[in-house]
Amino acid sequence: MRALTWHGKHNVQIDTVPDPQIVNPRDAIIKITATAICGSDLHLYDSVIPGMSNGDILGHEFMGEVVEIGRGNTSLKVGQKVVVPFTISCGSCFFCGKQQYSACDNSNPADKSDASEIAYGYPMAGIFGYSHLTGGYAGGQAEYARVPYSDIGPIVVPDGIEDERVLFLSDIFPTGWMAAENAEIEPGDTVAIWGCGPVGLFAIKSARLMGAGRIIAIDHHPRRLELAKQNGAEVLNYHEVKVREALTEMTAGIGPDACIDAVGMEAHGFAPDNFIDAVKQETKLGTDRQHVLRECIMACRKGGRVSVPGVYGGIGDKLPIGAFMQKGLTIRTGQTHVQKYLPQLLEMIMDGKIDTTDLISHRLPLEQAPEAYRNFHSNQNEWTKVVLKPH
Ligand SMILES: NC(=O)c1ccc[n+]([C@@H]2O[C@H](COP(=O)([O-])OP(=O)(O)OC[C@H]3O[C@@H](n4cnc5c(N)ncnc54)[C@H](O)[C@@H]3O)[C@@H](O)[C@H]2O)c1
Ligand SMILES: [Zn+2]
Ligand SMILES: [Zn+2]
Repeated sequence: MRALTWHGKHNVQIDTVPDPQIVNPRDAIIKITATAICGSDLHLYDSVIPGMSNGDILGHEFMGEVVEIGRGNTSLKVGQKVVVPFTISCGSCFFCGKQQYSACDNSNPADKSDASEIAYGYPMAGIFGYSHLTGGYAGGQAEYARVPYSDIGPIVVPDGIEDERVLFLSDIFPTGWMAAENAEIEPGDTVAIWGCGPVGLFAIKSARLMGAGRIIAIDHHPRRLELAKQNGAEVLNYHEVKVREALTEMTAGIGPDACIDAVGMEAHGFAPDNFIDAVKQETKLGTDRQHVLRECIMACRKGGRVSVPGVYGGIGDKLPIGAFMQKGLTIRTGQTHVQKYLPQLLEMIMDGKIDTTDLISHRLPLEQAPEAYRNFHSNQNEWTKVVLKPH
């Protein structure tokens, strides 16, 4: 089959690779009809997440048709259309029992999870197409994919619904939703959201549905800020204003009730702390650019909440830990527990409560994925979300 493979920093290619096979009884093989490129894929493209190997198949946002099922899965049927969560979870361990699916104890094979255990204290769940730190599973930017624990993960979507309306259930819709949930929004709250990429936009949509009174979105790409505005946010361009001062002024000196970091470890901007982080990241003396997280902590009102869907991978410094403690902030974060949210969010799509497609800027065949990565990376203003069609 044809698949998008990783070959080092800023080097992805379409290769012919072996078709996936059923390996375990609970596996299924999915013929992929739609797959998307995520901001998280850019961390791999930029080579700031360790544990990638030459030829790894990328992609963790995908959906398609079930074409083969292992004998251990009695819930799926061949021919069904499913969306696959990016988190691979067994459904029966202690963490899955608590619906903390991205912490699954069984999906990251023991021989692969050592590095994850060293980095984080305990190994995290497997993730499709996301380095050997998360299991080394082949991803879904391909014609076919093997889905482990396929009786737990994939959600069956109704016949006749267009792929693009449900594709983002694989990641960015639940991620934006969990980000807003972690922000513990109360009706009327003011919520500030850094990053108007796909995750930030779904956080905006979710915060609105949860009753936020005001949403203030921060980015510098005009097209992305425009999308945020169309979704009901007031916007700040961080190239034009000092973000913390602007937020303080807009909230009568109080600060936002909740701040959401939908940017993560590759924050842009020329603030001195970010410049130092960027030099350290480039020279491998550091891992993460934490400018946005610092700004969230400083801008948040006393007693407020900071929610961090943005991905961080390593060790940070210069965090205003004093502000965090003294102001009595709560921080909640995590890779999304996708499976937990799927039934509820699918229903919201079917009921027409949310537009899940307005952010898609490009629809391309899989063969053009390398070009799509280049543009999604370097022209974020116009390339807001790319959907690839392998079939
Ligand atoms: N927690 C999860 O499970 C999960 C799932 C998916 C994505 N993510 C992460 O969420 C983050 C966003 O993903 P995305 O797909 O929207 O990515 P993206 O790269 O498309 O968007 C990031 C946006 O942040 C903006 N930005 C950069 N620096 C900024 C700054 N200093 N202030 C304000 N905005 C700034 C960029 O201009 C860009 O528009 C990434 O870190 C991604 O890895 C996490
Ligand atoms: Zn993603
Ligand atoms: Zn589990």
